[in-house]
Formats: sequence, C-alpha cells, structure tokens
Amino acid sequence: MSSNVTIEVLRYLPENDSEQVVQSYEVPRTKDWVILDAINYIKDELDGTLSYRWSCRMGVCGSCGMMVNGEPVLTCAKFVESYLPGTIRIEPLENFPVIRDLVIEMGDFMEKLESVKPWIIRDDDYPEEKEFIQTPFELSEYKKFSMCINCMLCYSACPVYGLEPGFTGPAAIALGQRYNLDNRDMGNAERNEVLTQEEGIWQCTLVGECSAVCPKDVDPAAAIQRLKLTTTVNWFKSFLMPWKNR
Ligand code: SF4
Ligand code: FES
Repeated sequence: MSSNVTIEVLRYLPENDSEQVVQSYEVPRTKDWVILDAINYIKDELDGTLSYRWSCRMGVCGSCGMMVNGEPVLTCAKFVESYLPGTIRIEPLENFPVIRDLVIEMGDFMEKLESVKPWIIRDDDYPEEKEFIQTPFELSEYKKFSMCINCMLCYSACPVYGLEPGFTGPAAIALGQRYNLDNRDMGNAERNEVLTQEEGIWQCTLVGECSAVCPKDVDPAAAIQRLKLTTTVNWFKSFLMPWKNR
C-alpha cells in the first residue's frame, strides 16, 4: 500500500494563467483525513498559493463545497480513504464562474436566495410580544426545507442550471417553500410570483440530482414538485370556480 496519495487540483491564477491548469501534489496517506485535511496539508506544507474556502470543518457552514472526482461534495465530510485507490481530482464547483483556484463566484446564488423573499410576510399587525404557537405537524411541514446550509452543491449538480443560468434553482425554491409552508406566513401569492415565473419551478425537468447530492437531506426536488402540484390545483380551482377569486 502506497504511503502517499496523489491529489490533482484544477488551479486558476488570473494574474498568471489565461485558463485553468492541473497541478499535482503528493500528500501522506492518513487514515482519518477528510479531503479538506489533504487540501489544508497542501496549503500549509507544499504550496501556500492555493486558494479555497472553508470554515467550520463540521458540515455546518456550507463553504467547502468542491467537485471531487466529478461529484459535488462537502470536502470536510468525505474521507480521503473512500476515494482510494487512485488519483483524487479536486475542481471548483461546476456551473459557477471561477474567481481563483477553487473559489467560485456566488453572487448569482445569493441574488436568487433573496429573490424568493425568504422571510415571514404578514398582512396584519400580529403583536410582537405574542407567541405564535405551532403544532409538531405544522413545524414538520417546512422543517426539512429549513435545513439548507447554502452549500450550492445542488446548483452544481443541476443540469438545468448549467444550461439555463437564469433558473431560480433548487435551494432558492426550497427556501421559498420553507416560508410558503410556514403557517405564520401570509405571503404565498407574493412569493409565488417569483417561484412560478418562467425561470422558476417550470424549468425543472425533475432530474433529481439536487436531492441526491444534498448533504442535509433538504430534498429540493420534492419542494419543487410540491409547488408545481399546488400551483396546478389552484389554477384548476380558479378556472372551475372563478367566483372564489372574487
Ligand atoms: S438544498 Fe442542500 S445542496 Fe442545495 S444549497 Fe441547500 S444544503 Fe446545499
Ligand atoms: S468547512 Fe463548513 S461545511 Fe465544510
């Protein structure tokens, strides 16, 4: 068994390179290392010019997402051993512009999150000092969709977002549903103007990769399909019972 592991990193230094280049590093094979440990070893011991994001090292902050052997993963949550034998290839998250090395531009993602109005909307003056009690069932309606850590793995895995960058995308739609399904919220109609527009839920072709790669089981594909169903049922009701809209 080799005592080293070969890590290939797709690098981009805009001041030197006109395009991305692959650089190889040898790191010690260490049983309990996650991929992020190997990258930190490269940064600390071999090449201090390597750039990437990370923070918590415990699957919470969502900042360490990268492509590892072609799959979008949290690098703090995947063991090096699980990719052996063979070379491990690390690349920036797909479907995003690259700023430098493994650091991607996330402005488009942040704008999309904000576009779905991710806050409780009310059209009355609910007293701030009064508790709004929810039953366990009412909480369970949206809890799953509130577990997102904004890691962007789902956007990297989504072929629709890759082809149509205007697509609102999985995490933002799941976030919109998190508020739509919260019984304290009264903003469904306002929020759905964004979620059901041309670049919203109807662009999803139900590939399901977003849910497959999500490290927090948010299941954005289910959020999208549920909103498609609700929107369709509401459309039929307004067609068959137009007086209900008056
Ligand atoms: S839905 Fe899942 S994969 Fe997408 S950003 Fe949130 S946690 Fe990450
Ligand atoms: S470093 Fe925070 S999720 Fe990986």
